[in-house]
Amino acid sequence: MTHARIRIDPTDVVGDLSPRVFGTFVEHMGRCVYGGIHDPQHPSADADGFRGDVLALVRELGATVVRYPGGNFVSGFRWEDSVGPRDERPVRLDAAWHSIETNQVGLHEFAGWAERAGLEVMMAVNLGTRGAAEAAQLLEYCNHPGGTALSDQRRANGAADPFGFRLWCLGNEMDGDWQIGHKTAHEYGRLAAETARLMRFVDPTVELVAAGSSSADQPTFGEWEREVVRLTAGLVDHVSLHAYYEEKPGDLASFLASGVGLDRYIETVAAILDEEEAALGERMQGRRLGISVDEWNVWYLDRFNEQDKEPLLTGAWNVAPRIIEDEYAVADAVVVGSLLNSLVRHADRVTMANQAQLVNVIAPIRTEPDADAWRQTIFWPFAVTAARARGAALRVAAECPTVPTDAYGDVPVVDVAATTAGDRVEVFCVNRDPENPVEVTLAGAHGALRGAHDAVVLTVPEGHDRFVTNTRDAQPVGLRELDVRVEDGEVRLTLPALSWAALGVVPA
Ligand code: AHR
Repeated sequence: MTHARIRIDPTDVVGDLSPRVFGTFVEHMGRCVYGGIHDPQHPSADADGFRGDVLALVRELGATVVRYPGGNFVSGFRWEDSVGPRDERPVRLDAAWHSIETNQVGLHEFAGWAERAGLEVMMAVNLGTRGAAEAAQLLEYCNHPGGTALSDQRRANGAADPFGFRLWCLGNEMDGDWQIGHKTAHEYGRLAAETARLMRFVDPTVELVAAGSSSADQPTFGEWEREVVRLTAGLVDHVSLHAYYEEKPGDLASFLASGVGLDRYIETVAAILDEEEAALGERMQGRRLGISVDEWNVWYLDRFNEQDKEPLLTGAWNVAPRIIEDEYAVADAVVVGSLLNSLVRHADRVTMANQAQLVNVIAPIRTEPDADAWRQTIFWPFAVTAARARGAALRVAAECPTVPTDAYGDVPVVDVAATTAGDRVEVFCVNRDPENPVEVTLAGAHGALRGAHDAVVLTVPEGHDRFVTNTRDAQPVGLRELDVRVEDGEVRLTLPALSWAALGVVPA
């Protein structure tokens, strides 16, 4: 059997892991909001129309931050439409997703829901069809205590206290030619800088995220980051990257190595930021830019682009049409686990991350109007990692054989990340071999390991193949206990083929 050895050294720290790495994303897109978090007709709905069963699963998922309201949607959005009496709000075309936006869930309703869900709101402003003035007005509406027209309008609309949103995204995917108001790096960098300057005048406590590349495959990747960093120097705190992965026909091996792809993407962006920051010197005003991975997930984007996009964009205009409701199988959950591992091991640079999205739209939680909400396969690695990865991220790697991949060359068969807080080390492992189990030994760098606890694994359930998904009627993919033994001061376990696992160990 294949063997992997993992050395655990609680003193070999990468950096403190920000809880914001376990963020999520709610966009006014498809059935994420309408028919997702919100459905007044559902038996579990509260007085505001938000589904109670979804809220319970959101809490269980354990996300910390929620990016809102888009996504591509935000680049055509007028925030003023989403406040005030609901029956007076305008119905608009959402040109980004060829949908009808009713504005029945708006800023106040969402802020209240996010608070009940325990989520910090990360607002995105429209830099597609709008500019610095409208962004600053939204900020004043949200965060200014009162005594001005906009802040008093908020108070009149029911929020006496400011929302106090600290995190703000300066536009979305402005490098993409699909984006409403798509720009060159120079055009975007200038607009982002002026918007940031004005927003900081209105509220100096804000943290601002400049839009980086929407994929490492963008033709402008690299040059985009350099130009944007130069133009926004000293004005922004984070630069975003977006990363989606999918299994291409006949290439499961590359898909299972997606975490290596994300590692390289993050490291490339970090190197660019370091170089530009060094060159900019004092113009950075002492800021070290963080990386905000504010959209990441498994997304079957080729299928969307080749089959679903054209009918959507040329069909009837509907409220909350079904868009990219990907159903996730076991390999998708394993890949999500390894993408989380990648985020954790870059804790020194990744300051935030948002799995896209939360409900129905490429999401861990699914709904139907006449059923209870359910957990997709990808729910599990997120929920467990978010609950357990705490404190400092550790430098860990598996000594193990490699597997060849077309996309990334030879990659280790076992992927691992670890964190420590208190006297326990939390370990997260992936077996990328779809056919064979791997025997794993965990050894302490400074003496015997004293215990192993709460080991769980997600793999192909008995009686199913790897394509099994969780549906409204049956959810066979979940966690089961994983057998671990402590022998001679080492922890031993067997990772099943195609699996993701988590456990806690107690070092000497
Ligand atoms: O998450 C789905 C879409 O993916 C978002 O609207 C956009 O920002 C990205 O291209």
